Amino acid sequence: MSGAVLIAPSILAADFARLAEEVRAVDEAGADWIHLDVMDGHFVPNITFGPDLVRAIRPHCAKCFDTHLMIAPTDPYLEAFARAGADRIIVHAEATTHLDRTLQVIAGLGKAAGVALNPATPESAVEHVLDRIDLVLVMTVNPGFGGQKFIPAQLEKIRRLRAMTAGRDIRIEVDGGITAETAPKVVAAGATVLVAGSAVFANPPYGRAIAALRPRVIA
Ligand code: DX5
Ligand code: ZN
Repeated sequence: MSGAVLIAPSILAADFARLAEEVRAVDEAGADWIHLDVMDGHFVPNITFGPDLVRAIRPHCAKCFDTHLMIAPTDPYLEAFARAGADRIIVHAEATTHLDRTLQVIAGLGKAAGVALNPATPESAVEHVLDRIDLVLVMTVNPGFGGQKFIPAQLEKIRRLRAMTAGRDIRIEVDGGITAETAPKVVAAGATVLVAGSAVFANPPYGRAIAALRPRVIA
């Protein structure tokens, strides 16, 4: 597979007081997916929002809600996010003891499933669940906050995942510190979905910011 590189703005960096408007704005500006960062103040040292907010913004955008759960435990909340309108549910390999079971629950809810890996987690954590996922999320910062610096050591993990998933319908997504400078490096390593918070929402106009992250097509 692979195809075009997709851009998924993270609303973590949006103006929360005008969230519906911000979601519509990045949608109209060419976002491919909307990335939703759910944090619980336990698995990660920050708190964001839960399923009620996902439900509230759902009517404002028809694109894929790429829902990144940074919560532990994970399983008790899967159904609530599915019902609220998540299209893909991404769980951290480090946040659930029975990853295979968790992925089966997501499939049973009729949603696409992804697995996120913290920077120190090896790619082998997903090796035996590849049949159950359509995406691996490589954290290129330690999760919890927007605006952090990209960790270059993750490029090797992306390359290894590209080899591991060759011939499968699995996307490799990167999240954290993605800018016009780091985007070409992760794409060259094999990333096919780029999450970007600050690089989009702190750099209006959004259309230009999103375009700046896409790989250049040399005519
Ligand atoms: C970090 C979140 C990211 C965050 C990225 O824990 O998972 O999605 O919003 O923010 P930037 O693009 O600003 O590094
Ligand atoms: Zn994220």
